[in-house]
Amino acid sequence: MSDKKVRVEIVEEVALICIDNPPVNASGLAVRQGIVAALEEISAVGSIRAVGLYCAGRTFIAGADITEFGKPLQEPGLPGVCDTLENFDTPIVAVIHGTALGGGLETAMGCHARVALPSAKVGLPEVLLGILPGAGGTQRAPRLAGIPNALDLILSGRHVAAQEALEMGVIDRIMEGTPRDVALAAAREVVAGTLATRRTGTLQTAPDDAAIATTLAHVQQKHPQLISPQKCVECVAASTGDLQEGLAFERAAFMECLASPQSKALIHAFFGERAVANIPEKTAQARDIGSLGVIGGGTMGSGISTSALMAGLPVTLIEVTQEALARGVATITANLEGAVKRGKMGAAARDAALARLTASTEMQSLSEVDLVIEAVFENMEIKKEIFGKLDGICKEGAVLASNTSYLDINEIAAMTGRPQDVLGLHFFSPAHIMKLLEVVVGENTAPEVVATGFSLAKKLRKVAVRAGVCDGFIGNRILGHYLKAASYLVLDGAHPDQVDRALEGFGFAMGPHRVGDLAGLDIGYMTRKRLAATRPPEERYSGAIADQLSENGWNGRKSGKGYFVYDGRETLENPDLNAIIAEARAKAGITPRDFSVAEIVERYMTAMISEAARVVEDGIALRPVDVDVVFLMGYGFPRFRGGPLHYADTIGAAELVRRIEAYAEEDAHYWQVPDLLRKMAADGTTFADLNKGK
Ligand code: CAA
Repeated sequence: MSDKKVRVEIVEEVALICIDNPPVNASGLAVRQGIVAALEEISAVGSIRAVGLYCAGRTFIAGADITEFGKPLQEPGLPGVCDTLENFDTPIVAVIHGTALGGGLETAMGCHARVALPSAKVGLPEVLLGILPGAGGTQRAPRLAGIPNALDLILSGRHVAAQEALEMGVIDRIMEGTPRDVALAAAREVVAGTLATRRTGTLQTAPDDAAIATTLAHVQQKHPQLISPQKCVECVAASTGDLQEGLAFERAAFMECLASPQSKALIHAFFGERAVANIPEKTAQARDIGSLGVIGGGTMGSGISTSALMAGLPVTLIEVTQEALARGVATITANLEGAVKRGKMGAAARDAALARLTASTEMQSLSEVDLVIEAVFENMEIKKEIFGKLDGICKEGAVLASNTSYLDINEIAAMTGRPQDVLGLHFFSPAHIMKLLEVVVGENTAPEVVATGFSLAKKLRKVAVRAGVCDGFIGNRILGHYLKAASYLVLDGAHPDQVDRALEGFGFAMGPHRVGDLAGLDIGYMTRKRLAATRPPEERYSGAIADQLSENGWNGRKSGKGYFVYDGRETLENPDLNAIIAEARAKAGITPRDFSVAEIVERYMTAMISEAARVVEDGIALRPVDVDVVFLMGYGFPRFRGGPLHYADTIGAAELVRRIEAYAEEDAHYWQVPDLLRKMAADGTTFADLNKGK
């Protein structure tokens, strides 16, 4: 077999172009050059009457090669290749299998007809990378499918199934067979005149000013900080005129988006989600997980069970009493019902999932399961007791996991005679929706048990990040630190609502006080009590205001009152909050001062970055990108900023050190420069360098 990335095969009067660039046939330079060369080769034959273009391997072209972004463009560029395809004398039919995404679908739209296998999907996901379809997609999609469909495709970035794509007009026919056989058959149909072809660029887009105006208003309101969605709409609006003018407009908008920090951050997030799978244990053989046990039917246990049931795993749920068990089963049933309502599963799949659930009050029922996840109340003594029992009950080779959010996995593992089988699997609430899983590796956890945690995450369609043992692991350890910065801001003069709005303006979906109210202020209250004995005397106490709220029984949303008052769907001011704040300030002898939005964001983000740097320095996270992925997937960090340490690189280590030293003049205990940051400031290294192992 030839090692060429693009091959031509002549079958009588038909030519087939096969693109073969594993793993996903991205249209990098060699593919682009190969397509142009293939067309020249076909022209030279002289007798070819139709061309079928298809891909080898698991998918049609999954897009431009993202790794080339940011490097100087090497000709031919993809827009030029699409134009060359469209202008080719002989009709070309593209045959889509797997996914035709971004530049892949644009290549297909440059061809003269599109045929898809029934399982194929198409999409224009560029907006998710902070860019826009820059190889004619914003001009050709509306010509083929109309403005409303094009806007839907381009702004949602969703993968559209073949049947829907056919109804939209993006593809022309669905055919069954292997991609090569379909390419041959489709090209022969073109020759026979039974499959119509046309040049997309010659079609006229029907103007739809109303759809453009409504969509523009929608994106400006929903994503005021994002550049690319607005540019996408403007490009689609420009598709009603001359094709070449539209393409030039699209090109300029594409280059502007590509140069923006937003696209760099979003591309970092895309590769980051994949990079975190690169762990020292990646070559270890994961154990087979055919069944799961979950101990605890509360919110977490039920969410974890739901997630596993939805992934097709049988689950045995354990609770201490029949009542608690019934509540757990009811929560799981409601979660599955919600998934049906959201269109994630059908009624039959829901019934099948429920049929996979066994509920029991006997721990003994876990004797045959492959993996147990303990998800009970966050109390070390209870957890230790459970693991002691599991050691006597579970079969040899079973993986024993704790869903603890903070506690020491080594201490828990020591309760068993098999610490090599014990690890932390820290899910995020709601566990059947949130995509993050922290895999916490104890000092004795066996490599294949770590690998099993990662393979379970894959089965559950979650992103696993490897974390070391410390109080709070990666995410909650950093959270615990920067929440103090938020509390100090309020003690020193800012209002919780002002802090929240400043951070929402930065891009967080919710500010820390609204999140606290949502999660329940009792959680933080209990954590502060648990850690009280270990708090160093020089630490300035940050919890006075939150303590008072909890002691008044105002634990946030669930009690109707916390930092805010909740009335139905409305969030109102808490009329008692200012008095509590004033009292806490008076007790601490603080004269409040004003904070600007910029200062709030600066202090909060600097605190977050400081602890994140320490987490990397201590080896709790393998690389800076692991911290970024935890925050993007588990803590609502704005994706267009790429995560705390990607964002840190946009500020620079030297400036961060300068800021911390300035804040340290007020509080030298809280504001300490991490050694790693100081070293980076001195030698000019960035977190991106550390990701690359420099
Ligand atoms: N460029 C370069 N590498 C890519 C890539 C791309 N467009 N798409 C995927 N890859 C790489 C991944 O990084 C991964 O590499 P590693 O194995 O080294 O980690 C490998 O291909 C396999 O990818 P996945 O693990 O994601 O495989 P999957 O089967 O789960 O998913 C997929 C396949 C649906 C194609 C998914 O990879 C995906 O969504 N890719 C991105 C698609 C995309 O955004 N395309 C638009 C690109 S921008 C564009 O085309 C601009 C333009 O208009 C000119």
